[in-house]
Amino acid sequence: MNAVAAQAPEAVIQVRDLTNRFGSQAVHEHLDLDVRRGEILGVVGGSGTGKSVLLRTIVGLQRPTAGRVHVFGEDLLSLSQAQRSRVERRFGVLFQNGALFSSQNVAENIAMPLIEHAGLKRADAERLAGVKLALAGLPMGTERKYPSQLSGGMVKRAALARALALDPEILFLDEPTAGLDPISAAAFDQLILTLRDALGLTVFLVTHDLDTIYTACDRVAVLSQKKVLVVDRLDVVAQTDDPWVQSYFHGPRGRAAEQAHQDQADHQQTYKQPASKQPADQIPPEVK
Ligand SMILES: Nc1ncnc2c1ncn2[C@@H]1O[C@H](COP(=O)(O)OP(=O)(O)O)[C@@H](O)[C@H]1O
Ligand SMILES: [Mg+2]
Repeated sequence: MNAVAAQAPEAVIQVRDLTNRFGSQAVHEHLDLDVRRGEILGVVGGSGTGKSVLLRTIVGLQRPTAGRVHVFGEDLLSLSQAQRSRVERRFGVLFQNGALFSSQNVAENIAMPLIEHAGLKRADAERLAGVKLALAGLPMGTERKYPSQLSGGMVKRAALARALALDPEILFLDEPTAGLDPISAAAFDQLILTLRDALGLTVFLVTHDLDTIYTACDRVAVLSQKKVLVVDRLDVVAQTDDPWVQSYFHGPRGRAAEQAHQDQADHQQTYKQPASKQPADQIPPEVK
């Protein structure tokens, strides 16, 4: 291994030369993407550009028309059922629409993967479900409720708790803040950041939420023209010469999100300054 390869971040997901077609409609053509261990990668693009199809292809729910997808170095579709199940346990998915089973309470929803994949007894699985709910920021008592009794934000958190049930290394989230009010959405963004930092997760985050991109994402991949047009830090991506990128990041909503992010950074800076700017000889001895 040469020095450059030794320093390169490990790609836990590798997509190479991917093509997806539905009949005569080509959704992806020659699409390449690497997702690095430990990063929160935001995946953006216009409606219908194939973000959800890309996610489903990576997690092995959809066989690509052509190309290769490796997760943890494995091609899921070429593995035996037992081998595949071992890899699948290492990632959790929060789908765009399929949040929770409405006929089961929250504890049963979260316990299901623990019973089916980890072979836990029901009582143990439901006890562990309580821990996962706390991790997702839900109060005690939520486990006995049914999905219809929860707010939109709570449903997302419960679905997140289920995605975290098997202690995954990669979390796939498809539009997790869609339909949430701005305060719930901002809290969810913070939760993702906290979980990534605490659990060392890698997060593949499909979103159209500009606030999420500014707050939570380390890098951003833009789906356009049937491929990943650019994947880089937000400031680099925002400078890409592409009509969709320009109107998305520099239109009214993009500017508002950037301003809000800047205001928050300024606020944090101001808040920190008194202590750091105080000359050492003015600091009372007890805090020196
Ligand atoms: N199972 C399917 N059969 C046929 N067409 C599909 C299927 N899944 C997705 N598509 C089409 O692929 C395109 C990309 O869909 P999708 O990935 O859901 O877009 P988005 O970027 O909004 O998530 C859309 O035009 C959609 O209609
Ligand atoms: Mg979608």
